[in-house]
Amino acid sequence: MTDAGTQPMKLMCGNANRPLAKAIADYLDAPLSNVEIQTFADGEVFVRIDENMRGEDVFIIQSTSKPANDHLMELLIMMDALSRASAARITAVIPYFGYARQDRKTGGRTPITAKLVANLIAKAGADRVLTVDLHAGQIQGFFDIPTDNLFATPVTEQDIRRNYNTEDLMIVSPDVGGVVRARALAQRLGADIAIVDKRRPRAGVAEVMNIIGEVEGRRCIIYDDIIDSGGTLCNAAVALKEHGAAEVSAYITHGVLSGKAVERIRDSVLKELVVTDSIDATGKAGGKIRAIPIAPLLGEAIRRIANDESVSKLFD
Ligand code: R5P
Repeated sequence: MTDAGTQPMKLMCGNANRPLAKAIADYLDAPLSNVEIQTFADGEVFVRIDENMRGEDVFIIQSTSKPANDHLMELLIMMDALSRASAARITAVIPYFGYARQDRKTGGRTPITAKLVANLIAKAGADRVLTVDLHAGQIQGFFDIPTDNLFATPVTEQDIRRNYNTEDLMIVSPDVGGVVRARALAQRLGADIAIVDKRRPRAGVAEVMNIIGEVEGRRCIIYDDIIDSGGTLCNAAVALKEHGAAEVSAYITHGVLSGKAVERIRDSVLKELVVTDSIDATGKAGGKIRAIPIAPLLGEAIRRIANDESVSKLFD
């Protein structure tokens, strides 16, 4: 990362993750513009931006995390206000892009919300999108505007090198869908990979967890994009232990951690769960859960976008 100069820009955020927005602003040594956000008695959102935005290059930092619909509406309404205030360019910085898991029709008469939300974001006035670890890379193509999908892999690699002996490490994808992500991290660390293959042999029969790869005696790190209820992670950890893993930890980019996830992690066989702060981890980190900062990566990408510099170079 570099500390070369930065073109003028405006930074602002909604209510989704103010600590992260503040950390990005600190990285960029730029203030967060003041935005008044009110909710009317019926739940409607009102926004007023407290300074002139005419001709400005604006970055709005807002994850569509829980409560997903409120945070999404705040983002859309802020962009509407900015378009009407004649901002020159609006970048929606969405560290965690929710609704992404519904990225295909799973049956008759079901939606594709990832595409719907992408359409809404563009329609509300975004000129470009900056996000981290989209649930599936191809969701980038759901946006008809330039979309930079950053990877948390370098941040994760750095933290693993700092906290783990990389010698006999095994990077594990908790399902077949996450293999590309796990392989990318394993390659950076020079580690092997294993895959948890969940199968339900017949309807009504319990799921079987097969492990592809030899995990006996190895220190395993499960790598995934989202932890929501914690079910996928905790079940994968049990399967790895049953197959002889010496210890199991996890790195997961987006700590959704809904419902009883925190308690589930506490009571699990996991040694540690590390998430980034793409979603505000206040009140969730502690005990076995640790949050690592994503602000330097996002801040540097914002600086590069503002300066028309390469973003992909960050991952060379
Ligand atoms: C699934 O494809 C995702 O990558 C995550 O594994 C999943 O969303 C995690 O959900 P949960 O924690 O509720 O099992």
